[in-house]
Amino acid sequence: MGRRGICMAWNKHGGKRGIWEKHGSGVRVFVKLIVSVDERWGIGRDNRLLFPIPDDMAFFKRATQGKVLVMGRATLDSLPRSEPLKGRINIVLSKDETLRIGGAMACSSIARLGAVLAMFDSDDVFVIGGHSVYSQLLAHCGEALVTKVRADGRADRFFPDLDSDSGWAVASRSEDRLHNGLRYSFFVYRNKNAKEMPRDAGAGVWPAARG
Ligand SMILES: NC(=O)c1ccc[n+]([C@@H]2O[C@H](COP(=O)([O-])OP(=O)(O)OC[C@H]3O[C@@H](n4cnc5c(N)ncnc54)[C@H](OP(=O)(O)O)[C@@H]3O)[C@@H](O)[C@H]2O)c1
Repeated sequence: MGRRGICMAWNKHGGKRGIWEKHGSGVRVFVKLIVSVDERWGIGRDNRLLFPIPDDMAFFKRATQGKVLVMGRATLDSLPRSEPLKGRINIVLSKDETLRIGGAMACSSIARLGAVLAMFDSDDVFVIGGHSVYSQLLAHCGEALVTKVRADGRADRFFPDLDSDSGWAVASRSEDRLHNGLRYSFFVYRNKNAKEMPRDAGAGVWPAARG
């Protein structure tokens, strides 16, 4: 059984308190992910979303408001004006150690990301894509909020098929909904084998640039 404690997270919102759980020599960090997929688990094409369904966008906003978001640099580029999402703490993964993003933290490796995320309540952390970041962090996610759209968006980026992964199971699903002839529904999947994130307390995280 692990120990639980409180630590102060140094973010621009001023010392948010996060809960960590000490477990052996590491810190357990199980996060969540949120994704919208088509019928082939496609998630994007030409660095854009496949189906910008207003109800799904509103669901994304409600689920992530006030939370900590982890995204790849390409996903940041795909956002309106390539700007971080307001009202949320944005952490952008990039190997470019010179990258400075107004209103976001940049992080240069998964190990360093683990050290940062250990300062937050893992319930507050959402992995929001894209393909490469989902793939690397999937094993550390305890829960996936998946919007499934019953159509083929001719994607060039995909999410792993959770229905053929025995480690993941559907916990709940909504009724089907319709938007402009597109049928979609909201699923919650749970990961039975979520693994601790690696952590490395070294440098590699940059706070938001001013401007
Ligand atoms: N349907 C959905 O819910 C959803 C959600 C989000 C995104 N998307 C879609 O997904 C697509 C983008 O996915 P993607 O795989 O091409 O890009 P991505 O995962 O968003 O970003 C890739 C970039 O992240 C950085 N990165 C990744 N792993 C890293 C690591 N371990 N350490 C440091 N930096 C790391 C690298 O940036 P540098 O090149 O700067 O080093 C890499 O080039 C787009 O089509 C987008 O619309 C869909």
